[in-house]
Amino acid sequence: MRILVVGGGGREHALVWKLAQHHKTVFCAPGNAGIARTAECVDIKPDNIPGLADFAAETGIDLTVVGPETPLVDGIGDEFARRGLVLFGPMGDGARLEGDKSFAKRLMQEQGIPTARFEVFDDYEKARTYLADQLIPVVVKASGLAAGKGAVVCATREQAEQALRDMMVEARFGRAGSRVVIEQFLEGEEASIIGVCDGKRVATMAASQDHKRLNDGDQGPNTGGMGAYAPAAVVTEGIADAVEEKVFRPLLKGFDRLGIEFRGAVYAGIMLTKDGPFVLEFNCRFGDPETQAVLPLTEGDLGELLLACAQGDLAGRKPVKSDKAAVCVVAASGGYPGSYPKGLPVSGELFGSDDAVVFHAGTRIEAEGIVTSGGRVLGVTGIGADLPEARDRAYAAIGNISFDGMFFRRDIGHRGLARLSAGR
Ligand code: AMP
Ligand code: GLY
Repeated sequence: MRILVVGGGGREHALVWKLAQHHKTVFCAPGNAGIARTAECVDIKPDNIPGLADFAAETGIDLTVVGPETPLVDGIGDEFARRGLVLFGPMGDGARLEGDKSFAKRLMQEQGIPTARFEVFDDYEKARTYLADQLIPVVVKASGLAAGKGAVVCATREQAEQALRDMMVEARFGRAGSRVVIEQFLEGEEASIIGVCDGKRVATMAASQDHKRLNDGDQGPNTGGMGAYAPAAVVTEGIADAVEEKVFRPLLKGFDRLGIEFRGAVYAGIMLTKDGPFVLEFNCRFGDPETQAVLPLTEGDLGELLLACAQGDLAGRKPVKSDKAAVCVVAASGGYPGSYPKGLPVSGELFGSDDAVVFHAGTRIEAEGIVTSGGRVLGVTGIGADLPEARDRAYAAIGNISFDGMFFRRDIGHRGLARLSAGR
């Protein structure tokens, strides 16, 4: 099979790495320095939908797998379908699940999927009046796509008012913030569950946990994710079954009712509350950096599985979960998530081994070698028989890599490790 992966970050590197285990010809648009070792990188940006479709048609691509949300929300699925090209990822209507939080929340409400109580507002004054009556903490969310920065957990009333003003008056997220969702704050531990759907059925992968804060101990500002590990033991078999039963199945029923055929990855961000799992958000794609921990634990031919989804026929197929553990530690540029330099030479063992895979997120090839080109530069995934072994392998491997200002968290997997030492 000839496969095209759209995107150029750590998630796409993990997809390329896994797909290439069973398929010789993998292209990636635009890719990065690490991806270029395995796939043929083509210089087409993920937002150039006609360009990607032309490439897929001319190159005889059998399956296109889309990493990032923006092209999905912008209708890459519709364009490929119109041209008879097979693509793993929802059409624009299904991608609203991520692109329009108000749509996702209403769908959850209609389907009885457990989620925080909420209201949706297009009018600033009405939103302000509603907010005044809410308990603190409260969560204010831009309804549209805001590159992961659109959800503000507000610990004070002033903060909440500020967040609302930023979104609705100052338009800090552009049009994405002209509609807001105000929702109840939920308490608990978070986990991510990714399922692949064929429009009717869903098959879930190993549960994982992201680490969104910049610093150890979950301190500091939010980032795109400083690391992830899987499986997350906090998601017991019972919880995983509950998520399947109370989240994924009703979601697919809701899609069916709306005439939406969702053939792609659904990412459920879950809060494990004392009343059971609640959905914080849905994404219409694989998570980043969760994918870098989950795919190394997925056995079998991923290309075949995603093709089956794209063709609407998952029947009987399931991702096979290995019994190993994986820990992905992200190496970030100094200054991230604020501004940071680019073009710094990266040195050391940049391609890893079988049990410590180096996924490139923001790297580029220059005449002098590999240089940084993003805030998150690499994600090093250690794979081991258990979580401590996976963690040790990830940290040993990241210790062999350096660039000016390189920064990483030292405690990725801490919740799972604490659970292990407490014998839970
Ligand atoms: P979202 O983009 O909706 O997933 O929100 C990003 C992050 O904000 C989540 O991963 C949570 O850490 C936090 N968050 C979102 N909604 C809530 C909520 N209702 N209660 C508590 N935390 C939340
Ligand atoms: N790790 C969260 C996300 O991919 O949105």
